[in-house]
Formats: sequence, structure tokens, C-alpha cells
Amino acid sequence: MVNQSSLRGAGQMIELRQLSKQYGNIQAVTGLDLKINRGEIFGLLGPNGAGKTTTIRMLTMLTRPSSGTALINGYEINRDFSKIKKEIGVVPQHMNLDEELTARENLELHGRLHKMPRFQRQQRIQELLAYVELADRAHDLAGKFSGGMKRRLMIARALMHYPSVLFLDEPTAGLDPQTRRKIWDLIRRMNSEGMTVLLTTHYIEEAEVLCHRVGIMDRGRLIALGTPAELKKRAGEVVVEAFSRSGTEYRFFANREQALEYAGSHTENVVIREANLEDVYVELTGRKVGD
Ligand SMILES: Nc1ncnc2c1ncn2[C@@H]1O[C@H](COP(=O)(O)OP(=O)(O)OP(=O)(O)O)[C@@H](O)[C@H]1O
Ligand SMILES: [Mg+2]
Repeated sequence: MVNQSSLRGAGQMIELRQLSKQYGNIQAVTGLDLKINRGEIFGLLGPNGAGKTTTIRMLTMLTRPSSGTALINGYEINRDFSKIKKEIGVVPQHMNLDEELTARENLELHGRLHKMPRFQRQQRIQELLAYVELADRAHDLAGKFSGGMKRRLMIARALMHYPSVLFLDEPTAGLDPQTRRKIWDLIRRMNSEGMTVLLTTHYIEEAEVLCHRVGIMDRGRLIALGTPAELKKRAGEVVVEAFSRSGTEYRFFANREQALEYAGSHTENVVIREANLEDVYVELTGRKVGD
């Protein structure tokens, strides 16, 4: 028998086609066209209200698009509902563990909902609790966990049924730097084992170190797309920061020589440094992250 998933092997894992969502007169997402490759870690960036969560909610079939559609591993959202449910794991922006259940029971419940056989469930729970370093807390209530532990448990839960795509909506929001790096390692490890990952973040350095490509959203639209290096090149690789009473002015240059020349003509305090993805982001969205 031919394996369906191997037939679906090549090309894109996720394809958005003019995906749009309107809430009353709020246009949350407008005509998104985007292809995400198999095995890619893709990051969606954008200010509050840009439409990132709405996009993920449509792709994971928690809300229906107003128009347009999307394919996941070749299956169309809301049409091939149960096939897509098997393909995807979801870690939502807000904590939604069952706090009255233990870590183990949270995973058990998810396994049952996915109709995993008992033996497979037991094995997978063991494996995943070890994977997210919560094996010694298996029997503690999820409600008693710290933010980082809850987040790791949510990731384990999303992985229970062996999905091929993982959606992570702000996986490291509010976590300390060590815990954040642990989650990065977890994401990298899953990805090296073949998982396609779509995540959103407000931490630009997170996108820069973790994502193969990023898309920047603003007011429901995709306004930039590329690898972090491509996006930086587009804005200019060297930045001159000139401080003055009226605020800091940022100017982008293709190389250090041009930057030095400009800086030399300036009387204020200036700093010359390499551009980072945050500079590009601010330049494109015209606002600081989170504004
Ligand atoms: N259920 C809803 N009902 C009405 N409006 C909604 C709903 N969900 C989202 N919106 C609106 O859609 C827009 C996009 O919201 P969304 O949550 O997708 O943004 P986001 O990019 O995830 O923002 P954040 O970075 O703050 O998480 C906002 O204007 C928001 O108010
Ligand atoms: Mg959001």
C-alpha cells in the first residue's frame, strides 16, 4: 500500500491562499499568501493586534476564515478536518492546561482524545515527560507548575499524537533567559527530527537565532518575508545611531565605509553597529515591538 504521507512528501507543508479573517468591522487578517516548507522553522513577527494569533487559529481550525483558505500537508483546512487534526500540534498563546490534573493526566487526556491505544499512550507520556525534563514532576498538579514548566508541558501535550507540524504561539513569552533557551533547544531538536514549526514571537532575537525564515505582519498583512539575513541586507547591514535632544535617529547603510562617512559628518553622539533584525522590524512597522 502506498503511504499517503510519502506521496505528500515534497514541497510545502503549509500553504496560505488569500487567507483572511474579519471580526465585525475589524479586518484581523487580510489576503495572506504564504508557503512554508517542510522541515522549516518559520517565525511570524508583528506588533500587538497584527493578526498572528488569528492566523494560527485559522490554520489550526479553531476559527474559520472569512475568505481564502489554507492547505496543511496537502489537506484543506475545515474540509479535511480529521486528517489535519492528526497532522498538527498546537501550543496556544494562553495557558490552557487542566490545572486540576497532574502533568501525566494532562497528557493522558490528550492521548485519549486522539484515540491513541493505551500502550502507546503510556510509552509516549514517559518519553515526552523526559523530553521536556518533567519526568520527576509527572504526578504534580499542572496548576502548581511555574510558567516555564507549564509551557514545556503544553509542548509535550502538543507532541503526544506525533504531529508533523507544530504551531507555537509565543512559546517563550514571559520566561527567564535560561528557560527560553531550553525551549529553543527543544524546538531545534524537534525540527532536526523532521518537525515543521510555525511560531510567533515578540522576541526578535528569538526569531533571528531560531527561524530559517520570518514573515513580518502588520495590521493583518504580510509586509516582509525572508531569511533574517535577507531582511537585514534589505534594510542595510550597518546602522548609525545618532543621539540628539529630539530622540535617536537610525540610519541604515550597506557597509561600514558609508556608515563612517555619514557618522563623520555628524556632530551629535553617534554609534556605529551592525544592523539586527529588530532594526529591520522597527523600520518596517514604524513602531517598537509591543507598542
Ligand atoms: N475573537 C475575536 N473577536 C473580535 N476581534 C478579535 C478576536 N480575535 C482577535 N480579534 C482582533 O483581531 C485583531 C488581530 O488580533 P490577533 O490576536 O490575531 O493579534 P496578534 O498579532 O496575535 O497580537 P498579539 O501580539 O497581541 O498577540 C485585533 O484587532 C483583535 O482585536
Ligand atoms: Mg497573539
